[in-house]
Amino acid sequence: MEKIDLENLKKQAQKEISKAQDLDELNQVLKSYLGKKSQVSLILKTLKNISPDERIRLGKNINKAKQSIQAEFEKRKQELKNIDSYETKREWFDVSAPGRKKETGHLHPLTLAKREIMLIFETMGFEIAEGPEVETEWYNFDALNIPADHPARDMWDTFWLKETEGPKSKVPNSRLLLRTHTSPVQIRHMEKNQPPIKIIVPDKTFRHEATDATHEAQFYQLEGLMVGRDISAANFKAVIQAFLERFFRKQTKIRLRPSFFPFTEPSFEVDITCVFCKGKGCRVCEETGWVELMGAGMVHPKVLENAGVDSKKNQGFAFGVGIERLVMMREKINEIRLFHSGDLRFLQQF
Ligand code: PHE
Repeated sequence: MEKIDLENLKKQAQKEISKAQDLDELNQVLKSYLGKKSQVSLILKTLKNISPDERIRLGKNINKAKQSIQAEFEKRKQELKNIDSYETKREWFDVSAPGRKKETGHLHPLTLAKREIMLIFETMGFEIAEGPEVETEWYNFDALNIPADHPARDMWDTFWLKETEGPKSKVPNSRLLLRTHTSPVQIRHMEKNQPPIKIIVPDKTFRHEATDATHEAQFYQLEGLMVGRDISAANFKAVIQAFLERFFRKQTKIRLRPSFFPFTEPSFEVDITCVFCKGKGCRVCEETGWVELMGAGMVHPKVLENAGVDSKKNQGFAFGVGIERLVMMREKINEIRLFHSGDLRFLQQF
């Protein structure tokens, strides 16, 4: 009888089984170890020729080896099946499945509002003017008729910039600050352009104050300036009424109340019919039907002179309004800090 090293046979089979790369190959391996013509089968056939004791012992061992090879085979078979189904899954592709939507962003509500405002004023013949966000004391205050000791300076809580080393500038009041309003652009523009002047300045301003639902340290203002031979307060009313009706997309009434700004004389505060109750009276407008919207007035002759414009031959109006405030009123937003919160639930509504 042929001698057989069962341990070695098992090891050999295990090795070949684990190397099989697909089911065909694996079946081949099994056949060569346990098939009809395999060494194991041949030995089993010769068992009848040996003594009963020997037969039982050998038979048991051979069966054990067969079982272990069979188990090894089943294990590898499952592995190969898993790999197979993974690969088919990866390659499988449903042509009828709906496409995946690409998320696209959009412009910030303040940018949208700024663009809309510019368009409205451009159709009325206004130009867009710009100036620096870091201003000098002269342009932000003095040239606008706000002297250092004037109590009105308190109205614009200021972020002053640190004095830098080096030769002191000879220009008076050249201390640097973050502009507290867009009004300095009035001066900068008139220095370079003679009337007739029709500009708006929709830009960033800064105030050193605590933030709350209606105040931010950084916000946008819309400045307007129209100067010519006989520009009057009536022209202001007409321009601002036309603008507000287009911006709020509905009929609105305005009223002017006397006010004070050092750079306008006379000065007025502009109220608009409350957009929440349409003038009937509600909590927002404190039952008056009106809400305060902006400051305005006829440009002070001193301001014209400071910018090199002849105040005997020219006059005009100026106004200033917070762009956030305009958007908040139109969209019924009650919290200014939402604009810079980056909260998508807010931004996606525009
Ligand atoms: N600059 C003023 C402010 O910030 C607004 C204003 C502008 C008032 C122009 C009158 C004329 O409050």
